[in-house]
Amino acid sequence: MPESTTKTATKYLNFIDGEWVPAKSGDFFENRNPAHANQVIGLFPKGGKADVEAAVGAARSAFDAWRKTPAPVRGEILKRVGDLLLERKETIARDMTREMGKVLAETRGDVQEGIDTAYYAMGEGRRLFGETVPSELPNKFAMVVREPLGVAGIITPWNFPLAIPTWKIFPALLAGNTIVFKPASDVPLTANHFVEALVDGGVPPKVVNLVHGGGGEVGNAIVEHRDVPVVSFTGSTAVGRGLAERCGRALKRLSLELGGKNAQIVMDDADLDLALDGALWGAFGTTGQRCTATSRLILHEAIHDRFVDRLVERAERLVLGDGLDPKSQVGPLVNEKQLEAVAQYVEIGRAGGARLACGGGRATAGALAEGWFFEPTVFVGVTPSMRIAREEIFGPVLSVLRVKDLDEAIAMLNDTDYGLSSSLYTRDVNAAFRAMRDIQAGITYINGPTIGAEAHLPFGGVKETGNGHREGGWTAYEIFTEQKTIYVDYSGRLQRAQIDNR
Ligand code: UN1
Repeated sequence: MPESTTKTATKYLNFIDGEWVPAKSGDFFENRNPAHANQVIGLFPKGGKADVEAAVGAARSAFDAWRKTPAPVRGEILKRVGDLLLERKETIARDMTREMGKVLAETRGDVQEGIDTAYYAMGEGRRLFGETVPSELPNKFAMVVREPLGVAGIITPWNFPLAIPTWKIFPALLAGNTIVFKPASDVPLTANHFVEALVDGGVPPKVVNLVHGGGGEVGNAIVEHRDVPVVSFTGSTAVGRGLAERCGRALKRLSLELGGKNAQIVMDDADLDLALDGALWGAFGTTGQRCTATSRLILHEAIHDRFVDRLVERAERLVLGDGLDPKSQVGPLVNEKQLEAVAQYVEIGRAGGARLACGGGRATAGALAEGWFFEPTVFVGVTPSMRIAREEIFGPVLSVLRVKDLDEAIAMLNDTDYGLSSSLYTRDVNAAFRAMRDIQAGITYINGPTIGAEAHLPFGGVKETGNGHREGGWTAYEIFTEQKTIYVDYSGRLQRAQIDNR
């Protein structure tokens, strides 16, 4: 990726109209390492409306040739992009850890999710199924085909800097759309790696455009642009609601992947070792910064006390540190603002009457003081009306609630504004099937934690987690395609439906 190194820091660029270019304003913003906040990873262009204008123009001009490229050929290009991501997996994972903090095993997993999504996309290039159905009239053929929409606006978060952009961009491209991509400003370097792989893999220049910058400037300009008919966004429910209002007025298609307040239920007959591993991974993996993170733990009263004791003991032993260090199990929070927000929630928890069982503060021992590290935190004695049981925290804070039976557990799990992921640990097959039927969530795991979705299955949630779309697998392609219904009458005469055949 073209870049220049000044005395202070490396400068990176946007990719617009087939060229690596600075922002029209000439301004840059800093990208810092959350494990060592004084370390600047690079300077990235601070884009704005004029950059988006150029990006949309380029994407629009590239659309006609790209939509007419056969889908299997588009699929082969994406396969090559997947191969490049595989080749560059280690470099991308290391840079991702440096810019957003999660540990290397997890950033490698993030890149792998992108590779899986690329290979899935290649297969779809030879499917992209429409439908044929019989006509009610003789000598008449009826079918439905899938078509791209045009320029897709892609706005992505910082917690899965590669996987989430690939969930959106690969299906959009495979279906024949062109792209204007605005990544979160905490993770611009991973986005540059991704766009480089797209271009090196053979996606024609101008088909993909990358504009760095803030949501207020770049994001809004994309959403408001009249030549962007479809927007896909992953982020907070508050921002998503605003986008829905604006896209609603403009009659644009919008796919939203928003907040979660996911719960894991552990019944008294569960394999408690397994449930404990699941709770620790679900709550503290990615430092709790997943929309699928386990944020509530609902324990059957018969195992509550023993489970909490073991949970606290294990949580206190988790090793915090720079994600590049193989000994580290939990990385820092992404930035200072997030650290403050999490600390604030600990105060809210205390003030609301919950009891802090472990953690609760910034971790500052030794080199940890250089970064935004926060202790894995467990609250017990949480009740469903407390704010820490209702609001998404997006950090390593787990709220433990107590129930007397499965019905109460499911009702408690469902008692939330969100509905992304959910989990039940039990050995009772009847209980498992009742939960699968009654849990209100887009994703349910039985005997697995709330995190760990696979690339080829639908991903998304109910209630305020989204607006009914699903990423992952085939369902992602529905977001980025229109359906065209085509009738071919080969009877050689006027045949009036509903009339001439009656
Ligand atoms: C997210 O939390 O924003 O299921 C995405 C998982 C990952 C994706 C999470 N595969 O936890």
